[in-house]
Amino acid sequence: MLSLWKALQGLPLLAVLVAAAADYPPIPEDLSTPTQQRLAIHGMNAVSVGWNTYEQLAKPCVQYGTSASRLLKEACSTSSVTYNTSRTWANTVVLTGLSPATTYYYQIESTNATVQSFLSPRTPGDKTPFTTSVVIDLGVYGADGFTVDADGDPARKALVPAVDPSLNHTTIGRLADTWDDYEWVLHPGDFAYADDWYLTPANANDGVNAYEAILETFYDQLAPIAGGKLYMASPGNHEADCEELGTAAIEATCPDGQKNFTDFNIRFGNNMPTAFGSTSANLTAKVGANSAAQLAQPPFWYSFEYGMVHVTMIDTETDFPDAPDEPYGSSSLDGGPFGYSGQQLAFLEADLASVDRSVTPWLLVAGHRPWYSTGGSGNVCKACQAAFEPLLYQYGVDLGVFGHVHNSQRFAPVNNSVLDPNGMDDPAMPMYIVAGGTGNIEGLSSVGANVSSNRFAYAETFSYATLTFEDENNLLIQFVESATGNILDSSTLYKSHTEQFVNQ
Ligand SMILES: *[C@@H]1O[C@H](CO)[C@@H](O)[C@H](O)[C@H]1NC(C)=O
Ligand SMILES: *[C@@H]1O[C@H](CO)[C@@H](O)[C@H](O)[C@H]1NC(C)=O
Ligand SMILES: *[C@@H]1O[C@H](CO)[C@@H](O)[C@H](O)[C@H]1NC(C)=O
Ligand SMILES: *[C@@H]1O[C@H](CO)[C@@H](O)[C@H](O)[C@H]1NC(C)=O
Ligand SMILES: *[C@@H]1O[C@H](CO)[C@@H](O)[C@H](O)[C@H]1NC(C)=O
Ligand SMILES: *[C@@H]1O[C@H](CO)[C@@H](O)[C@H](O)[C@H]1NC(C)=O
Ligand SMILES: *[C@@H]1O[C@H](CO)[C@@H](O)[C@H](O)[C@H]1NC(C)=O
Repeated sequence: MLSLWKALQGLPLLAVLVAAAADYPPIPEDLSTPTQQRLAIHGMNAVSVGWNTYEQLAKPCVQYGTSASRLLKEACSTSSVTYNTSRTWANTVVLTGLSPATTYYYQIESTNATVQSFLSPRTPGDKTPFTTSVVIDLGVYGADGFTVDADGDPARKALVPAVDPSLNHTTIGRLADTWDDYEWVLHPGDFAYADDWYLTPANANDGVNAYEAILETFYDQLAPIAGGKLYMASPGNHEADCEELGTAAIEATCPDGQKNFTDFNIRFGNNMPTAFGSTSANLTAKVGANSAAQLAQPPFWYSFEYGMVHVTMIDTETDFPDAPDEPYGSSSLDGGPFGYSGQQLAFLEADLASVDRSVTPWLLVAGHRPWYSTGGSGNVCKACQAAFEPLLYQYGVDLGVFGHVHNSQRFAPVNNSVLDPNGMDDPAMPMYIVAGGTGNIEGLSSVGANVSSNRFAYAETFSYATLTFEDENNLLIQFVESATGNILDSSTLYKSHTEQFVNQ
């Protein structure tokens, strides 16, 4: 199949005929047209711009500035990469020296590009309140993905230009409708659900193309959000392979270029950051942060800071003992490792230990698979808990953000399934949420059996979470129904944050 594909690449007409089976977006006549735009926090005062094109770019460039009509600065790179079965090249350019918390305008250099804008990152230590939206397990909308009944004003859907207004992608629509209410997006894992192509019978004979078609469509649908908001990504199980719980026969047709997190790695590898240099006055913290930057392996594990928060992104799929997606792992997804043995955990410890809470009082860890969930033991990752939970407790992580289970859940502060006696009033243990109910072809997961640490669980309609960092001591956590914007659950975590370096 792979050699057939390579043969067809030189024959555009035939390639289009083959592609017709899969529901590909049309290739723009101008092959330099930017598609699938995505932005990320790339460092202090730095933002990376990622986008795909239907041709390789010798020198991807972006013009930018603080006035839409005067884009006086230019940044370029030579980063234009692809893999065997992709129709597109992933381009990345990093914009540096940005003034913090400032609206910038940017235009990707092409004979067919428009001006877009973003808010640059807040400086670590800026104590201005802000909100982050959390979306996990977000799939493609439409024939190869999921659909829902209309439940909102169709006119408002027009605010999401790249999504067919008839398609009612409720979570992306809500992110567009609430544009001024949040500053950036956290998405730890499961994008598009391209590996679920075989659930649509029409794709049966053309999985290789269906997989790519779903990725192109999804990232076009996401571009109105990810091209205007800093959008932080880490891996989930659906990035691993051509098939998620598919059959051996399907696996045999999966070309190497679609295994082992290839699209995710090519797409986000240059887009995501490593770890920030510490702005702490403490030398131990500076050395630790430098060490974390060396050990980081973006887009799999890395960290960043934004105003009052330090966020550490972990990879719950590979690179720790008994990791589920590794060869011989419990998920049969045959991916990774992406670092040397022990590298991810060494990163996590160096990173968490270096967080100066007088600069960034809030410390979050975000990953894909949870170890607290309702719905029985099949929903929790015991190997993840064994690897990560002791470090989260030791360094006083405030909140763990996870998905994988397709619903919304909130947990009381907890460690090793023992509840913190202080509850939400200055606990020593981390609290956790699951925000996996945003919508995908697999549908919602029922709430199922309860656990004692659960405080809220919802699986009736698509939903996502928002985190509002109100001040150094109060974090407001809300779950939002995507279709209506109704607040489903609201809670506030209070932390005194009196210790500069937590090590308990
Ligand atoms: C220019 O880009 C727009 C989308 O941004 C696309 O719809 C259009 O087809 C492109 N034009 C050409 C000539 O490729
Ligand atoms: C989207 O919404 C419109 C109007 O609200 C409705 O008629 C249509 O069936 C919906 N489309 C899908 C795919 O659910
Ligand atoms: C991709 O194709 C090239 C030849 O075009 C081949 O050398 C390479 O091994 C392939 N890579 C994968 C990962 O299949
Ligand atoms: C620096 O931070 C470390 C913990 O990372 C702590 O042990 C040490 O006392 C701090 N040094 C100063 C001068 O505060
Ligand atoms: C996946 O990719 C990584 C990094 O490129 C490589 O080290 C690893 O061996 C690959 N794993 C598999 C199962 O091919
Ligand atoms: C926290 O949980 C870990 C298991 O993940 C356990 O080893 C450790 O003893 C617990 N710490 C406290 C203080 O309960
Ligand atoms: C699970 O049980 C806890 C405590 O017993 C309760 O507070 C919580 O509401 C329950 N969760 C659900 C979804 O019923």
